[in-house]
Amino acid sequence: MIFAKPSARTRVSFETGFEWMGGHALFLGPNDIGIGKREAIKDISRLFSRYNDLVMARLFDHDHITELAEYASVPIINGLTDYNHPCQIMADIFTVWEHRADLEDLKVVYIGDGNNIVHSWLHLAMRFPMHFVCSCPEGYEPDPDTIQKARDVGISNVEVIYDPNLAVKDADVVYTDVWASMGKKDETDMREKIFKDYQVDESLMESSGKHTFFMHCLPAERGREVTDGVMEADYSIVFDQAENRMHVQNAIMVYLSENK
Ligand code: CP
Repeated sequence: MIFAKPSARTRVSFETGFEWMGGHALFLGPNDIGIGKREAIKDISRLFSRYNDLVMARLFDHDHITELAEYASVPIINGLTDYNHPCQIMADIFTVWEHRADLEDLKVVYIGDGNNIVHSWLHLAMRFPMHFVCSCPEGYEPDPDTIQKARDVGISNVEVIYDPNLAVKDADVVYTDVWASMGKKDETDMREKIFKDYQVDESLMESSGKHTFFMHCLPAERGREVTDGVMEADYSIVFDQAENRMHVQNAIMVYLSENK
């Protein structure tokens, strides 16, 4: 497990999950191997392929994980890049299915920064029919090419709606994430002003007009993107999401081990 960024859930869920399945997971933090700095990514990739059956990496630059995969002879699992977070969204859709019992006519509304979580929802919308809405301030939309690709596939309704009160109408799920992701923390004060109308509070949840689940990939900054009341509400399924990271990732690791 290579981590160029901090982590609680990804580290613990992968490490615990792999050990439960009889494996041994090795944690390499930001100062351990210096991927791309002390040693070229393509060299780390070939080296680790000689020692390990699977590699999970959390890196900044998305090109770095694709380079890691290009040179590896073992499966490489994306544990988050600046561009996307696929393991998170696979656990999320599993959690929605667990709580909703089916995934028919699903409307997911993401409120906040058009970040790596949104890109993974858009990738899911390319493979799975849904109504996906991103509600963000102007200038903070997700990558336009990824939006276009999701629309071009033609199986999902993908919208950007700037007004969060309009966006949440009839939502099955309201989802948010921190306003300043890892690597953007120096913009926290500026973003707090820009995103102030995008806080998920009790009144926004009620304005969906139906029973709506609240989801957050965590860690949450209570009082910023979400209120304490929403985090603690009966409709909040954030800890089921977090638990499911482990079960879904275990399934991903078994699948990759059997389909190398
Ligand atoms: N959601 C998530 O990936 O959490 P961590 O950053 O703590 O791993």
